[in-house]
Amino acid sequence: MKALVLAGGSGTRLRPITHTSAKQLVPVANKPVLFYGLEAIAAAGIKNVGLIVGDMSGDISEAVGDGSKFGLSISYIEQREPLGLAHAVLISRDYLGEDDFAMYLGDNFIVGGIDEPVREFRRDRPDAHLLLTHVSDPQSFGVAELDATGRVRGLEEKPRHPKSDLALVGVYLFSPAIHEAVRAVKPSWRGELEITDAVQWLIDTGKDVRSRQITGYWKDTGNVSDMLEVNRLVLETIDPHCAGHVDEHSDLVGRVQVDDGAVVRNSRVVGPAVIGAGSVVVDSYVGPFTSIGEDCVIEDSEVEFSIVLRRASLSGVRRVEASLIGRHVQVTSAPPVPHAHRLVLGDHSMAQISS
Ligand code: G1P
Repeated sequence: MKALVLAGGSGTRLRPITHTSAKQLVPVANKPVLFYGLEAIAAAGIKNVGLIVGDMSGDISEAVGDGSKFGLSISYIEQREPLGLAHAVLISRDYLGEDDFAMYLGDNFIVGGIDEPVREFRRDRPDAHLLLTHVSDPQSFGVAELDATGRVRGLEEKPRHPKSDLALVGVYLFSPAIHEAVRAVKPSWRGELEITDAVQWLIDTGKDVRSRQITGYWKDTGNVSDMLEVNRLVLETIDPHCAGHVDEHSDLVGRVQVDDGAVVRNSRVVGPAVIGAGSVVVDSYVGPFTSIGEDCVIEDSEVEFSIVLRRASLSGVRRVEASLIGRHVQVTSAPPVPHAHRLVLGDHSMAQISS
């Protein structure tokens, strides 16, 4: 069995971060979201992974390499345009051959891994095995309608009037029967070849399509609030440790991880929180559910429930909350006169100013 991991797509809901980086590389507790998926695949006993990459292929291959650090063997498959999940399967035909495979969307985050569904799929060998979960906003997902016996009767992509609240989670298990299905479907209203339509085609042609409802936590980390939420959840599980230097005028409260070479001076860090390698926190407060990336500077500032990426700095600002701060971003206080905000924001940035 192989895996197909999707790390293309344009990530419009995470702009401007995704203008310069892949959405799958946004860190959760200082580790790219994509790595959690690759680890789950390795844990399920799958070794060979086709990694679908788009515009940000350089960044992804630099971060993931040949996969050996995950115990995987990774082959890169280029998707020139984000033409849909079924299109990704279409262009992977040669790589996948006649093997069964797990398709894993690289921006999805699933607590509890995929061991159980992979085991079930290997035992029963249906043509497709879908993972479903109850959501409050089914309009934003592929939605499954089940019959009285729990079989999948129909699927709809982003329905205006959903027939259930059961969303398709971004992990699918397929036999080679899916290849005929992805060749049969036509582009949807959003111009994509939808995997939802391909699975519907399997159902319509009498193939064996099964599903399982997952109870563990699942998020599609496509937007900032979902990223913050997943970050919060993962931070709650970190092991507190200090590999950096914390001076005697500082307090670390609760689950706090201070990585190699990080320095905390005259500050209070209330966990769960992680201070990345080489970062400096001075005269500041870092509150719960905050990930400070590597080589950041937080001085005379307060920040909580936020993700701060590598080499960013906060200086003289309080309080930053529910924020995603990109690499090399500088947030500083303005001179007192005139009393004004001074902003240099990249395309599609978003600023909420409290005044
Ligand atoms: C895709 C699928 C959708 C599924 C979702 C899970 O949506 O098309 O059926 O529910 O992933 O994350 P997209 O992220 O392409 O909008």
